[in-house]
Amino acid sequence: MSATSDRHALIIGASRGLGLVLANELARRGWQVIATTRQGGGELQANADSSNGRLRVESLEMTSPDELAALRERLAGSRLDLLFVNAAIDRGNLPVDEVPTDMFTEVMITNALSPLRAIEALRGLVTPGGTVAIMSSDQGSISLNTEDGYELYKASKAALNQLMRSYATRHAGDGQTKLLIDPGHNQTRLGGPGAPFLPEESIPAVVDVLEAQAGAPGLQFLDRHGKTVPW
Ligand SMILES: NC(=O)c1ccc[n+]([C@@H]2O[C@H](COP(=O)([O-])OP(=O)(O)OC[C@H]3O[C@@H](n4cnc5c(N)ncnc54)[C@H](OP(=O)(O)O)[C@@H]3O)[C@@H](O)[C@H]2O)c1
Repeated sequence: MSATSDRHALIIGASRGLGLVLANELARRGWQVIATTRQGGGELQANADSSNGRLRVESLEMTSPDELAALRERLAGSRLDLLFVNAAIDRGNLPVDEVPTDMFTEVMITNALSPLRAIEALRGLVTPGGTVAIMSSDQGSISLNTEDGYELYKASKAALNQLMRSYATRHAGDGQTKLLIDPGHNQTRLGGPGAPFLPEESIPAVVDVLEAQAGAPGLQFLDRHGKTVPW
């Protein structure tokens, strides 16, 4: 891996929650960070303004192929040591037969299709030996699905994991490290106020994993302690 001051990361979906803390933590560790949001201003922009140039904000609606292509154009010539797709949504706890078709489509497009489109669009910016990572969840593990609830969200993360495995097979020879990360249950808008962990506690551990795995071959599904999550 390159010297600390020389490492470059792009974080997709960093306006709040885990993504915001991830962008901050990487910048705090000396990475040069580009972080995306769908709306201007906010905490991410304020952090960028006080980051001495370590953090830069870009705009992206991840479900838009046109916006992905435009971001790729704007970043032409950049080189990344880490491309991390964090963005996802949850639309509540309905049994799947009660999920409206529009809601099913929205969650699947956002959580499964769009992260893969994003990494396909942007992987050319990642150096050989760099890392392509997506925020998944143990909720996406089929073998760990023994508790009731969140059927659509779980299915979307399982679909994400499956698509990432196909991606990893398709790009097996590209020399890039490929990771699916389970950050643990955190207090965010998505995780809810009753979650046991704060992003400020979990994300440093996640970044330790990202840094430790840099250069590792193949695809791994890891929790924030670097432990393998069963598929
Ligand atoms: N919190 C947990 O307990 C937990 C556990 C396991 C995994 N995760 C995963 O961790 C990641 C972050 O979750 P979080 O808890 O931090 O959720 P969050 O607070 O709801 O933040 C979600 C982020 O994704 C962005 N986003 C959503 N849809 C987008 C789109 N179409 N285009 C661009 N950005 C979009 C949001 O931007 P806006 O502000 O514009 O909406 C926001 O920055 C997700 O992948 C989630 O599935 C979370």
